[in-house]
Amino acid sequence: MAEPVRIAVLASGGGSNFQALVDRFSRRDTPGRRVVGVIASREGAGVLERARRAGVASAILPASTDDDRTATFLLRTLAGWRSEIVVLAGYMKLVPEPVVRAHWGRILNIHPALLPSFGGQGMYGARVHRAVVDSGARVTGVTVHFVDEAYDRGPILCQWPVPVLAGDTPASVGARVLAVEHRLLPAAVEALASGIVRLDADGRVRWSREWFDSERFFNRED
Ligand code: GAR
Repeated sequence: MAEPVRIAVLASGGGSNFQALVDRFSRRDTPGRRVVGVIASREGAGVLERARRAGVASAILPASTDDDRTATFLLRTLAGWRSEIVVLAGYMKLVPEPVVRAHWGRILNIHPALLPSFGGQGMYGARVHRAVVDSGARVTGVTVHFVDEAYDRGPILCQWPVPVLAGDTPASVGARVLAVEHRLLPAAVEALASGIVRLDADGRVRWSREWFDSERFFNRED
């Protein structure tokens, strides 16, 4: 059997999106994918406990303001796990340029809004949903995009809309969005792992026509 596609995760928080990836790719019917490790940006991040329970390797970014040291640590750790796909799942730090370059087209981020709205530095978690509610927008959603050197800016792989309802609070919108994240992120990673989507040298995201026609994503039960 072919070697599984090796997926590494970068996270800063509770790690519910990490969990969604572990749940999806640890099933017996997906032997071709494996979550091989998670790098937490700080000690005490909830994602570390999830990794321990799932039997997934973990590492913690050394507390350092030095970009070069951060880059070296990330590159070494990801290479040590022989990571083929890297997923930012609630990772609040900028990924240093050498890491982006080393994993170009194979590194994804999930953002809890419809980019390019409500993104950028400082826009994460509850702050995003607060900004959405304050703006009066009636639709928000989830974006999965390829990572480049800026926060929340790289080429968009897929998006899914989520309604903002009358009386919604940042917490209630956030919960509705998070439930969609847990479905969209594993689907996006699977699409990249299987070659259904790719980032071309011209910076454009290309989906295979067959997949679009098949409605496979829409019919999934998970
Ligand atoms: C998720 O909502 C993710 O989209 C968001 O952080 C949360 C992490 O939750 N990411 C960003 O805001 C990135 N700009 P989790 O730790 O439970 O997966």
